[in-house]
Amino acid sequence: MNATTNMQKNQLRGPIEGLIGNSEAMQDVYELTRLAARSSASVLLLGETGTGKELIASALHRLSDRASGPFVRVNCGALTESLLDSELFGHVKGSFTDAIRDRTGRFEAAHGGTIFLDEINSTSSTLQVKLLRVLQEREFERVGDTRTIQVDVRVVAASNCDLSKEVAEGNFREDLFWRLNVLPVYLPPLRRRGRDIELLVRHFLKVYAQSNDRQIDDIEPEALAALLAYSWPGNVRELQNYIERATVLCQGNRLIPDLLPDAVIGDSKAAQTAVFRPTDDQALIREFVYNRLSKAEEEDQDLHKQIVEPVEKELLQQILQNCNQTQTKAATRLGINRNTLYKKMVEYGLAKTKASSETTS
Ligand SMILES: Nc1ncnc2c1ncn2[C@@H]1O[C@H](COP(=O)(O)OP(=O)(O)O)[C@@H](O)[C@H]1O
Ligand SMILES: [Mg+2]
Repeated sequence: MNATTNMQKNQLRGPIEGLIGNSEAMQDVYELTRLAARSSASVLLLGETGTGKELIASALHRLSDRASGPFVRVNCGALTESLLDSELFGHVKGSFTDAIRDRTGRFEAAHGGTIFLDEINSTSSTLQVKLLRVLQEREFERVGDTRTIQVDVRVVAASNCDLSKEVAEGNFREDLFWRLNVLPVYLPPLRRRGRDIELLVRHFLKVYAQSNDRQIDDIEPEALAALLAYSWPGNVRELQNYIERATVLCQGNRLIPDLLPDAVIGDSKAAQTAVFRPTDDQALIREFVYNRLSKAEEEDQDLHKQIVEPVEKELLQQILQNCNQTQTKAATRLGINRNTLYKKMVEYGLAKTKASSETTS
C-alpha cells in the first residue's frame, strides 16, 4: 500500500517532456502540474519572467483530456484595452471603425481546449469584469453584439507580479483573483534551483551546438562556476540567450569564461572572495542585501553598518556558541585576533560581565 503510493508520488514528480530540471522545487511544480491537468479548474501560474510559465501552461494542456483540442495563448500585456477586448471576445462588423467584418475571438477559438491568458495582471478593470463572467458562466457576447456565446474552455492565467499584492493595492479585482487562483502554481526563480542551472546549461549547449553545426561538447570549470554563481534576474530565458551567444562565438570545442557576458563573470569574481561559496548562499546574501537596501531611506548614510553589522553579529554569535563561548577558539576559527573579537563582542553586546567570563581564554 505504502509502496504503491510512493511509486505514484514518484511518477507524479518525474520529468515533464520539454522541461529541464530535477530540483525539489521543480519536482513540486511537476507534481502540481500533473494533478492540475486532471481537472478543468482554473490554474494561476506565478513566477518571475523567464521561469517557464508558458511551458507549464502548454504542458497543462498536453497532459489534460483536452489535449486534442486547441491551445490558445493571448498576451494580455501586449494589447490596448479595446484591441484585447475584441481579440478575446471577437466583434461584429461595424462595431467600431476598423471592424470591417465579423471576427471570432480567442475564447471561441479555444472551445474544447485551453486558453492561456499571459500577463493577466495587465488587464483593465472593465476587462476584468468580462473575464469574471466568462469564468463564472462560461459565456460572453462579441463586441457590438447581443447574442450570447457559450464556450467550454479551460483557463490558465499567468502573472509575473504578486497578484495578491495587486488585489491589496486595488489594481486587480478580488473576485476575479479568487476565480483564477483555484490552483496556484509557483515557478521558482532560477537562482533558487541550484543544480538545475548546470543541467540547463548543458541542455542548451547541446541544442545550440547542434543547430549551429558546432562541435562543442564541454564547458571549462571556471565558466561553469561563473554560471552557477550568477543571480539570473531573467531566469531561464536569460540563460538560454547567453548559451546561444556563447555557442555562436565559440571557436574551440569548449565553452570558456571569455564567451560569457561581463555581468556573469563579474559576479563570479565577487563570489570567489566572499565567505560563502555555494550558489544558494550567494543568492541568500544578494537577497538579504537587496531587501535591506529596498527598506533604506534615500538619505541613509550608514548602509554599511545597517547591512554588514547584523551579519557579523550573527556570525560571531553562532561561532561563539559552537566554541562553547571560548574566545580563543572562536577567534582562531574566525581567523581574527582575540582582542579584535572581544572588541566586537562588546560593540554588539555579546560580551559577558567580568564575573561570568572565566571561559575567556
Ligand atoms: N525548465 C525549463 N526547461 C527548458 N527550457 C525552459 C525551462 N523554463 C523555461 N525555459 C525556456 O525559457 C524561455 C522562457 O520560458 P517561458 O515559459 O516563456 O517563461 P515565462 O512565461 O515565465 O516568461 C523559453 O524559451 C522556454 O523554452
Ligand atoms: Mg512569458
